[in-house]
Amino acid sequence: MAKKILVTGGTGYIGSHTVVELQQAGYDVVIVDNLSNSNADVLEGITRITGKRPVFDKLDCTDFAAMKALFKKYSFDGIIHFAASKAVGESVEKPLMYYRNNLVSLINLLELMPQYGVKGIVFSSSCTVYGEPDQNPINEDAPVKPATSPYGNTKQVNEEIIRDFIHSGAPIKSIILRYFNPIGAHPSAEIGELPLGVPQNLVPYITQTGIGIRQQLSVFGDDYNTPDGSCIRDFINVVDLAKAHVIAVERMLENKSDDKVEIFNLGTGTGLSVLELIKVFEKVSGKPLNYKIVGRRKGDIEQIWAQPDKANNVLGWKAIETIEDTMASAWKWQQHLCEKVVK
Ligand code: NAD
Ligand code: WQD
Repeated sequence: MAKKILVTGGTGYIGSHTVVELQQAGYDVVIVDNLSNSNADVLEGITRITGKRPVFDKLDCTDFAAMKALFKKYSFDGIIHFAASKAVGESVEKPLMYYRNNLVSLINLLELMPQYGVKGIVFSSSCTVYGEPDQNPINEDAPVKPATSPYGNTKQVNEEIIRDFIHSGAPIKSIILRYFNPIGAHPSAEIGELPLGVPQNLVPYITQTGIGIRQQLSVFGDDYNTPDGSCIRDFINVVDLAKAHVIAVERMLENKSDDKVEIFNLGTGTGLSVLELIKVFEKVSGKPLNYKIVGRRKGDIEQIWAQPDKANNVLGWKAIETIEDTMASAWKWQQHLCEKVVK
């Protein structure tokens, strides 16, 4: 019988791509999402790609009674927990909202897992836990630095909650995945990133500027200590990232490791600067991008990229998409979105 996976936040950006990969690998998926940062139309896109409509329950993970009823209704083998609020700036303005949403959601899941015999949880963490690295590429043994935002702190505390709970003897396993900068969209352009309002992240801002929704991209700083002066990131294709979750779930549920908690960096292992990424966009879109250099954005890390050897060797996962194909997928998705609006 197919294994049943609860995907929280499954209509969101990374969640929807992961649901596609899970269904294509033969898993049954139940999505819960409160649609606070996504749209139920995503389910149509997933269905068109996979030929199968995932079960969807519009629920809030912070609602313990509703989550308990869900666990009772379905017999989950494992969980992938994406549901969280993720805007760094907003978290500075509304810290309690971030702590409540991101911490209570996880605590509810952990509390219910042993009660209903759910064996494992894959958790979405972030390279933000490393702060400004002392050296790059960065591996999983690097120290976690004090968080620079309530959002970043929720990731650190969530990691600690998982570790503490498992160390207390809870009969569950967990794989913590630290994503670098996920970008791009499914090559079919049926699903992709749907930023609400003005995008805070670089790639949606680039594609919206390319298509004319935004007038000009502001590049935050060209005076960093990097070869071209702009910041450096490890941009990881979202489909590559999604595939890592399928491998992680299988590893966890089939007890392939004796460790009850494992941490993996998910990145390409290559750093690319903001200005280099703009050049890639110009190449794949065939048009120049209107951008200007402005001052640094407060709180930005100068440079960070992953040492993904542990994920490569232990998980057997590797990022394979080129940055050109990845930016082309982001551009195709942007064009698809605009066609939908015009129709
Ligand atoms: P997203 O906002 O697209 O997806 C998150 C989904 O969770 C949304 O659909 C939202 O409606 C839902 N949600 C939020 N709170 C909920 C709640 N209480 N109950 C039910 N649903 C809820 O974000 P994403 O980019 O897909 O990120 C997924 C996860 O990965 C998040 O935990 C995020 O912090 C983490 N992450 C993201 C990035 C990134 O750059 N996108 C990087 C590192 C880590
Ligand atoms: C990338 C680079 C900007 C927008 C954030 C979170 C992090 C993680 C991923 C979840 C930076 C520059 C951006 C723009 C720009 N999320 N930039 N003009 O800051 O690496 O990470 O998202 O865990 O926690 O902090 O991503 O896409 O915002 O920025 O020049 O309009 O692009 O300065 O150097 P970041 P980003």
